[in-house]
Amino acid sequence: MEQQTLGAALEAAHREIDGGIEAYLAAGGTVQDQSDTLVRSLAGLRRHIYLEEEFLFPSLKRSGLMGPIFAMEREHGQLWNTMAGIDTSIERGDAPGTRTACTELLTLLDKHNAMEEKVIYAQADGLLDVAASSALDDFLGFGVLPSDWSPRSALG
Ligand SMILES: [Fe+2]
Ligand SMILES: [Fe+2]
Repeated sequence: MEQQTLGAALEAAHREIDGGIEAYLAAGGTVQDQSDTLVRSLAGLRRHIYLEEEFLFPSLKRSGLMGPIFAMEREHGQLWNTMAGIDTSIERGDAPGTRTACTELLTLLDKHNAMEEKVIYAQADGLLDVAASSALDDFLGFGVLPSDWSPRSALG
């Protein structure tokens, strides 16, 4: 990876994912390439949540950030369930339902990302041990989300 802090790389991922969902909504949610953008953004968000829960949070919990991390994990469950709702709307070809759920997802992301960047990413580079930081770095480059994975806090 380039010379960039982990915190900056993760923030850039937030911007990219949000940007894709915003582009879908801005296009009225009807144009086919914008649906592809949305599907890619949702895949990106699932992978991002996985990498945080598997590679970032465990090490930070051990460094004492227990409380804020629990809050973030709880919100990951909400994000995950909202994405499941969007998948269903897409499958049904329900464009208005998809748009409504995307707006809801962006509202959740706004709050989640702001807190995560302020409380967690700001300290991540200082707190992560070398092993955790290199595992996270590797995953950022090439890692793939296991198909059967979901956050513990997601319902059913
Ligand atoms: Fe997160
Ligand atoms: Fe994040």
